[in-house]
Amino acid sequence: MKKPPLTLKRLVWATAAFTLALALTLGWLTPAPAPVALSPQAQLGLRLFHDPSLSASGKLSCAGCHDPSAAHAPANDLPTQMGGPQMDQMGQRSTPSLRYLSFTPAFGLDAQGKPSGGFFWDGRANSLQAQAIGPLLHPKEMANDNAAALVQRLSQGPHARLFEEVFGAHLWQQPQAALEAVALALARYQSEDPQFQPFDSLFDAFLRGQATLSPAQARGWALFKDPQKGNCAACHTADLGPDGRHPLFTDHSYDNLGVPRNPKLIPTQAPGSHDLGLCARPDGTLRQRTDLCGAFKVPTLRNVATKRVFFHNGQFNSLSEVLHFYVERDTHPERWYPLRANGQVERFNDLPKRWHPHVNQSEVPYDRALGAAPALNAAEVEDVLAFLTTLTDGYRP
Ligand code: HEC
Ligand code: HEC
Repeated sequence: MKKPPLTLKRLVWATAAFTLALALTLGWLTPAPAPVALSPQAQLGLRLFHDPSLSASGKLSCAGCHDPSAAHAPANDLPTQMGGPQMDQMGQRSTPSLRYLSFTPAFGLDAQGKPSGGFFWDGRANSLQAQAIGPLLHPKEMANDNAAALVQRLSQGPHARLFEEVFGAHLWQQPQAALEAVALALARYQSEDPQFQPFDSLFDAFLRGQATLSPAQARGWALFKDPQKGNCAACHTADLGPDGRHPLFTDHSYDNLGVPRNPKLIPTQAPGSHDLGLCARPDGTLRQRTDLCGAFKVPTLRNVATKRVFFHNGQFNSLSEVLHFYVERDTHPERWYPLRANGQVERFNDLPKRWHPHVNQSEVPYDRALGAAPALNAAEVEDVLAFLTTLTDGYRP
C-alpha cells in the first residue's frame, strides 16, 4: 500500500503522453485547413462572377467563358468564345485560364525596352481591377453600352442589396465609381479565393516531397528545363519564386512564335488584316515598337493539359500538336503552314511579310535549319507531354 496516488498519477500522465504522441503521429491534431474567409468585396465578386444578368444578353457571366470546372478557361473547344447582345458575336482571341494570374506584375518596359507583365494577351491592363472593366463593356463580350447601362442592370439584379451593403447605395448615382467598385469586387475575388491559385498539382506535391514523378514525367521535366532540348523553362519559368513560391511557368514576358493563321477566325479577320498583339494595343502606346508586332504574352502552363484550345488565336486543339509545332516549325514548316500555288510554304502566314524578321528564330527550340532533326524527337515530345499533365490542379494522392 505504498503511495498509490503517485502511481496513479504516473499512469494518467503516461496515458496522456502516449495518446498525444499517437494523435500527432496519426495527424488527428493537425488542424484542418480553415476555409479562407473572403472579404465582403470578394464575396460580392464571387456572386458577380457567376451572374449572367450583368450582360446585355442576360446569358453571359464571367464564368460563362472562364469556367471554374475547366480551370477557369472555356469548357468548349471553340477557338474564340461567342458574346454580344445576341450572343452571336465571335471573339477575336482565345480565352485564357484565370488561374495564378494574381502574381502578374503590372506591365512595364525594362532598360533595354523588353516588355513584361500586364493582363490580356497584349498586357494592356495593369491590374485585375483594370482588366475586369474590359469584358463588361466589350461589345463582343458582356456588351454593356457604358457604365450607366451596367449600373442599371446591377441595381435591378439579384445582388443589388449586397452591392449596397458593401459599397453604399450612393454609388447608384455615380455609374463610373460603381463600375470601378464592380471591378474591384471581381479582382478581390480572383486574388483572395484559393481556387484561383491552389498550388495543389502533382508537380506541387512532388516539390513538397509528397509524390514522385513517373519515369516519363521525370524525363519530360528534364527535357523541359534542358537549354539544348525543350528550353521551355527559358520563358515558362520553372524556378521557385520569391519566398519559395512554387513556379508559375511563365516569366510574364512576351514573344513572337509565328503561330499559323487560324482560318476559323475568318469571321473576325478580314483578308489581309492581322492581329499584331503588342504593337497594336488599342491605347497606341507601343505603335512605334514595330519589333513587338506579333508578340504575345507567355501564358502559364499550369493546367495547360486541361485546355482544349491553344495560343492567342486558338489555332490548335491539342497539346501534342502545340509541341510538334514548336519543334517542327523550322525543320518541317510545310506541316504547319499552307502551300502557295507555286509549292512554296507560306511561313508565318499570320503576319505581314515585313514583320517576319521579328519571329523568334534564334532560341532553342526554334533554331533548327530546314530539314534538320527537330530539337525533340517523337518519344521526347511524349515525355514533355507527360510532364505537362503533372501541372493540373487538384491532385489527390
Ligand atoms: C465572351 C467570353 C468572355 C467573358 C464573358 C469574359 N472573358 Fe475574360 N477573357 C476573355 C478573352 C477572349 C480574354 C483575352 C482577351 C485578350 O487578350 O485580348 C480574356 C481575358 C481575361 C483576363 C486576363 C487573362 C490574362 O491572361 O491576362 C482576366 C483576368 C479576365 N478575362 C477576367 C474576366 C472577368 C472578371 C470577366 C467578367 C467580368 C470576364 N473575364 C468575362 C473572354 C471572356
Ligand atoms: C522564347 C519563349 C518561349 C519558349 C522557349 C517556349 N515558349 Fe511556350 N509560349 C511562349 C509564348 C509567347 C506563347 C504564346 C504565343 C501565342 O499565343 O502567340 C507560348 C504558348 C505556349 C503554349 C500554349 C498555352 C496556351 O494556354 O495557349 C504551350 C502549351 C507552350 N507554350 C508550351 C511550351 C513548351 C512545352 C516549350 C518547350 C518545348 C515552350 N513552350 C517554349 C513562349 C515560349
